[in-house]
Amino acid sequence: MTSGFSLPRVGTTDNPVRLAVLVSGGGSGLAALLRYQRTPRCHRTTLVIADNTDVGGLQHGRDAGVTSVGVPLPMEVEKRKRRVAHERLVNAELEAADVELVVLSGYMRILTPWFVRRWKGRLINIHPSLLPDFPGAHAHRDALAAGVSVTGCTVHLVDEGVDSGPILAQREIEVLAGDNEEALQERVKMAEHILYPEVLDRLCSGQISL
Ligand code: GRF
Repeated sequence: MTSGFSLPRVGTTDNPVRLAVLVSGGGSGLAALLRYQRTPRCHRTTLVIADNTDVGGLQHGRDAGVTSVGVPLPMEVEKRKRRVAHERLVNAELEAADVELVVLSGYMRILTPWFVRRWKGRLINIHPSLLPDFPGAHAHRDALAAGVSVTGCTVHLVDEGVDSGPILAQREIEVLAGDNEEALQERVKMAEHILYPEVLDRLCSGQISL
């Protein structure tokens, strides 16, 4: 039985898998990935997309010489159809750039089943908790409220649910006495910046099979 996920082709340093990174915020994860890719890898970021034109992360892409575009919600489209209309605009950018793998890095929009099916197996996310614990937008707040002593981050393939696709890798971080959301977020981000490039290496060199 197949998993229904088709993974990207195997990349090489001569012919790396072409990545698009999708961001909504400051893009520290994107910046870390671009730094990592200064050395030739089996993956290369060829496109950065943000869900608005004023998103800070776009500058990291531009600084690295990567095509970086803000795609705002098309407000002229009626509300019911706006999400998919937006995703069609994003998808058009991905197709025009011949992207092979879509990397969500702090992209704060929940994707519709249409987009997820279009990119299934070639759409990955990093989430700042040890999934399946604390999915959703407030992972650090939820972890602190639950009083856990260990949290972390998870890289997973995206399926039609929220933070629910197959887990590719996790990294643990100790919760320290006196941690608040900001302190915990900063330490988890440091782990994210190591984990995401590692997983991309494994995925794009064919070391992950489903
Ligand atoms: C990261 O912690 C990511 O896991 C979460 O949002 C944060 C994005 O941070 N979904 P940045 O924009 O990469 O600095």
